[in-house]
Amino acid sequence: MGLDETAQKPHDRLNARLAEDMERVNTLIRERMASEHAPRIPQVTAHLIEAGGKRLRPMLTLAAARLCGYGGPYHIHLAATVEFIHTATLLHDDVVDESSQRRGRPTANLLWDNKSSVLVGDYLFARSFQLMVEPGNLRVLDILANASATIAEGEVLQLTAAQDLATTEEIYLQVVRGKTAALFSAATESGAVIADAVEGHVTALRDYGDALGIAFQMVDDLLDYGGSTATIGKNVGDDFRERKLTLPVIRAVAKADATERAFWQRVIEKGDQQDGDLETAMALLARHSAMASTRATAIEWSQRAQTALDVLPASDLRDMLVDLADYVVERVR
Ligand code: IPE
Ligand code: IPE
Ligand code: MG
Ligand code: MG
Repeated sequence: MGLDETAQKPHDRLNARLAEDMERVNTLIRERMASEHAPRIPQVTAHLIEAGGKRLRPMLTLAAARLCGYGGPYHIHLAATVEFIHTATLLHDDVVDESSQRRGRPTANLLWDNKSSVLVGDYLFARSFQLMVEPGNLRVLDILANASATIAEGEVLQLTAAQDLATTEEIYLQVVRGKTAALFSAATESGAVIADAVEGHVTALRDYGDALGIAFQMVDDLLDYGGSTATIGKNVGDDFRERKLTLPVIRAVAKADATERAFWQRVIEKGDQQDGDLETAMALLARHSAMASTRATAIEWSQRAQTALDVLPASDLRDMLVDLADYVVERVR
């Protein structure tokens, strides 16, 4: 490994290793995000897609397929599919969360309106289904169609768990598995399936994606309190404002004394939030080591992801996936 390669972050290394495939994925995404008849569609999709994004999920699909020895053309379609599903969920998610910043840019709902975000999100979902059919493989269709339903289910479960201080860690895990890990695991599993991998390898890659996705979302929830807006490209404090029971909050609430509990009831249950409340919440998360303990739990999931890969034959791509699991818990964006 050259100096350049060691200096890069794991996802940059994966990107470099899969550069040709990624280029084809990006070309396919650009081709399919267009619409001849409704100019609002390419405007909104270009705004979001050209802003970048880490492209983690398509990389996972490509890596899984290559890791399992795939030599055909369809991992490109599957990778583009998962990025389309991801993009569609982001458009919808920013409406639901009333977010104003994404990937360092104003959100589509802010620049245009909620209607455009919902409808263009629907369009991208439909485009993702057109793409996932093209490999002509019923099993990958099953995996990706199921993931789409599970993501929506996770988002709805989160909606009903928000503002409820009685939300348990179990419910939190269910939300995170649905809204985030389902797409990570579908990304890796569909890559393995298109490559006709043996069942043990398909399961390993699915389990890797699931655990990686859980770790990834836990860190996302940490960054929503402890990150910097400039770095994450999203507004810090969105989860607090939306009164979400993320893992750090659940753990701080569990340790709250009477005064602290009254604070959480006011800001989360009643939604009566004033200047300085976010800072108070952050101080309580720190006082009860809720940030550190959430990070520790995320590391456990990341290690579970790494362990899942043990059954796969050693290769540079497997090593990169192992490193990627370290990266998701260290990441600052
Ligand atoms: C954002 O995902 C949505 C979550 C699951 C937290 P990413 O952080 O992968 O978003 P981009 O694609 O890099 O912008
Ligand atoms: C991420 O939801 C999952 C989906 C987009 C389905 P969040 O609301 O936690 O993610 P960010 O912080 O907006 O990216
Ligand atoms: Mg959001
Ligand atoms: Mg959300």
